[in-house]
Amino acid sequence: MESIWSKETQILPREPLHQHQSVNTVIIGGGMAGILTAFLLKKRGVDVVVLEANTIGSGQTKNTTAKITCQHGLMYYKLIQERGEHYAKKYARVNMLAIELYERIINSLHIDCDFRRLPSYLYSKVDDLCLRREAGAASKLGMQADFCFKTALPFEVKGAVRFENQAQFQPLAFLKAISEEVCVYEHSPVLKVESNTVITPGGNVKADHVVFATHYPFVNFPGLFFTRLHQERSYAIAIEGGQNLEGLYYGVDKDGISFRNAGSLTILGGGNHRTGENSQGGKYQFLQDAAKRFYPDCTLVAQWSAQDCIPIDGLPYIGRFGGKDRKWYVATGFFKWGMTNSMVSAMALCDMICGVHNRYGDMFDPNRNSWTKSVKNLSIELKASVLGLGRQVFSDAKSPLSSLPQGHGGIVEWKGHKLGAYKDEQGNVFLVSVKCPHLGCQLEWNPDEKSWDCPCHGSRFDYTGALLDNPAQIKLKAYRYTRR
Ligand SMILES: Cc1cc2nc3c(=O)[nH]c(=O)nc-3n(C[C@H](O)[C@H](O)[C@H](O)COP(=O)(O)OP(=O)(O)OC[C@H]3O[C@@H](n4cnc5c(N)ncnc54)[C@H](O)[C@@H]3O)c2cc1C
Ligand code: FES
Repeated sequence: MESIWSKETQILPREPLHQHQSVNTVIIGGGMAGILTAFLLKKRGVDVVVLEANTIGSGQTKNTTAKITCQHGLMYYKLIQERGEHYAKKYARVNMLAIELYERIINSLHIDCDFRRLPSYLYSKVDDLCLRREAGAASKLGMQADFCFKTALPFEVKGAVRFENQAQFQPLAFLKAISEEVCVYEHSPVLKVESNTVITPGGNVKADHVVFATHYPFVNFPGLFFTRLHQERSYAIAIEGGQNLEGLYYGVDKDGISFRNAGSLTILGGGNHRTGENSQGGKYQFLQDAAKRFYPDCTLVAQWSAQDCIPIDGLPYIGRFGGKDRKWYVATGFFKWGMTNSMVSAMALCDMICGVHNRYGDMFDPNRNSWTKSVKNLSIELKASVLGLGRQVFSDAKSPLSSLPQGHGGIVEWKGHKLGAYKDEQGNVFLVSVKCPHLGCQLEWNPDEKSWDCPCHGSRFDYTGALLDNPAQIKLKAYRYTRR
């Protein structure tokens, strides 16, 4: 299911890597974070290449809703409580700088990507207290933020927090333009990184600096990101016949819906769940029903989904990791705010690589101890992993393959094995192992995407077993179906 951005943007295809190379910096991953980092480094005269497993922007970036904002949910009240006013002010400032840098790049390269400055709103239908607190916290930090009752939304709200001067754009049109400035090898999956050598099927790249911008880092050691990052999936639809909102909207209630415009279209986002926990499905239907309620004459133009890396303490991991002898860097854990956080990563990593002091550079240290600050979240993570692993080891398959209706998927018993099965509308059967090749958790069926999703760290596979999302790096074992 393609996003409206994918439908309208063709990014120039690139050759795979097919020789050995030496460069100053190699970036693994050609999404918003990787391409922006390469772009800023190139501007500083650094010799840099990007290695992309698939195609530019083909990861989560193609399916974002591309609100460029420092309004990251109910962030600032919490941040002041947990980290103090000074830290919260720096967080707000660096994210505002990110918006400004997007604007400067777009203006200087004359990029036609529908960039617009707009206010952004958090809203609630049930609780104004949390919004009043948030507005107060943001104002205290010097931001242009107000509590208000009036919005353009097609329903009554208890209140809203309005931030001035935020932005939106067409993410792939932007990525297309900046990626044309840098050297990218597509269809060049990195299989392994050994010290300063990055290994792909077509050749190795030796580099002084290695940047992991793969959304979820695919190396387990060092970093142990699998103990402090999980993924959450959410869904978006674009409709014709909505309304002109003149703003970006994010609902803070459970099942809250986000809104923005893109030309004549209105985009609604929501249906959030931990990846691997959507066995009932119905997320697109939820958004379509909401759209019909708000705009009875609307028509569906597109629907798509993507996922976010959720860090255990709510802050991204940006910076150096992997020990003193390695010049390895990471940009991950953007929560739901990867547009500004990709730019923040690019600015910070670019300075680190160039040996320039960055006053925001140590804010998101990947080596920080996130566990003690987030004991509650750590126990949720451990519970999810233990459950995922436990299901794999202990649970029996529930039903025989014959009981699976056409058009459905599920875990079944087949010839004495517990396997994942999908039966298409014509009755063709696709059988795969449900053991996640990352760290062995049991995969769950996602009926909205017809995919096998891992509840532990969010790897995903299509019904034939092909890899869709990392941290897993290989496909699932597939079994040939025979009737007897
Ligand atoms: C539905 C939805 C809506 C969103 N809306 C917003 C929004 O409005 N505003 C906002 O700020 N954020 C939003 N986000 C978040 C934002 O879209 C993401 O955080 C951001 O796009 C992530 O960019 P990235 O470069 O880190 O990852 P990706 O775009 O996933 O890029 C990573 C790349 O690495 C490649 N890769 C992986 N492994 C390897 C390997 N071994 N070798 C080589 N390449 C590899 C992948 O193929 C991929 O292309 C949204 C997220 C979702 C789920
Ligand atoms: S993604 Fe880690 S075990 Fe599946």
